[in-house]
Amino acid sequence: MKCTAIVLAAGKGSRMKSSVQKQYMELEGFPLIYYALRTFEKSCVDEVILVTGQEEVGYCRAEIVDKYQFLKVKKIVVGGSERYLSVYQGLCAADYTDIVLIHDGARPFVTKEVIERTILAAAQYGSGVAAVPSKDTVKLADSSQFAIQTPPREEVWIVQTPQAFQFPLVFQAYQKVAGRQDVALTDDAMVIETVLHKPVKLVMGSYRNIKVTTPEDLDIAAAFAAADKKGEI
Ligand code: CTP
Ligand code: MG
Repeated sequence: MKCTAIVLAAGKGSRMKSSVQKQYMELEGFPLIYYALRTFEKSCVDEVILVTGQEEVGYCRAEIVDKYQFLKVKKIVVGGSERYLSVYQGLCAADYTDIVLIHDGARPFVTKEVIERTILAAAQYGSGVAAVPSKDTVKLADSSQFAIQTPPREEVWIVQTPQAFQFPLVFQAYQKVAGRQDVALTDDAMVIETVLHKPVKLVMGSYRNIKVTTPEDLDIAAAFAAADKKGEI
């Protein structure tokens, strides 16, 4: 069973409001994207496709992939203006594979165990999406910020990446959305749900598997990176 990971790093990081894009910011001496690539390198995944911005291909090749000898990174491809378009570019670059995992490069602390759980579920059910039970009560609100619904907390999961799928399933779904501008698709599971009307299988992610999104996330990421350096996690 061949597994290919698509690691996304083509975003602008607008919510971080930093001069350097968040995926290249330094964390304990390494660029943030290094951490996820290192974990995929050590995992059971066979190949990695790194998706970056047009301007960063050379930097990623020289300063990350070659420098740290990430031998599983077989291709660096240029992403698109939205996340789902970047995913599509990655999927188009994937040579024949059985399972494809899509991972946000902005999630440095993914683990081998989480990667394996998503792959096993994808092999069995077609999909395996990392997620954690919500610690907070979640409310749905209307446009005036009045809470209109409170789903029972035990049914609420916070979705992460990696999101793993059988390749033909995810490629077919993405081919259908790639040309559309009228869709707001924030994760891969949504593409499967919207296009194929199939529920995805959730598997246990990790509370450390945060997405570095806004400046305060950097403090948490720095603490995790420091613990990682000391071998504590
Ligand atoms: N991503 C991508 N291509 C895009 C948009 C996002 O490859 N056009 C990637 C990001 O680099 C990130 C992941 O998808 O690793 C999750 O996206 P998000 O956290 O939203 O990152 P950004 O889009 O960069 O940030 P923002 O939304 O704040 O601009
Ligand atoms: Mg974004």
